[in-house]
Amino acid sequence: MERTFVMVKPDGVQRGLAGEVILRLERRGLKLVGAKFMQVSRELAETHYAVHKGKPFYEGLVRYITSAPVMAMVWEGPNAIQAVRQTMGATRPTEAAPGTVRHDFALEVGRNLTHASDGPETAVAEIGLWFKPSELVSWDRATDDWIM
Ligand code: PPS
Repeated sequence: MERTFVMVKPDGVQRGLAGEVILRLERRGLKLVGAKFMQVSRELAETHYAVHKGKPFYEGLVRYITSAPVMAMVWEGPNAIQAVRQTMGATRPTEAAPGTVRHDFALEVGRNLTHASDGPETAVAEIGLWFKPSELVSWDRATDDWIM
């Protein structure tokens, strides 16, 4: 069982696509264990994207993420990290496979709708950065046996 951090970025919220992202992850069989709708501070954005500091797109990325509210979430399930990234599609929407969120709703990397942790260590770090342990809910549903 794995947990991963997922964010609907400002363009996703502004375009009314937060529900679409949640719908697709729920339908995939993943379970929502944490969510908050929030305005991201510059400090949080800089920490979250620290690995990209100095890259040409860094400043624009921080400005974009802090420009309007986001939906920050934690999703749980078997192979959740890979499953979420598959459902979102490639970072560059023009490289994303048909049927993925980024293919179906986005055109540019600078407005690619969502963020999802790219590996187990990143997932742990990002969940810890965005959520307190008390904000995550462990719960069972009767349908688990039909998914796993
Ligand atoms: S890199 O350099 O290969 O590690 O970068 P990449 O993995 O492609 O992207 C890292 C995150 O930066 C975002 N990005 C951009 N944002 C705005 N403008 C441009 N040009 C741009 N290029 C990359 C990209 O969406 C990734 O964000 P997250 O939130 O991690 O998906």
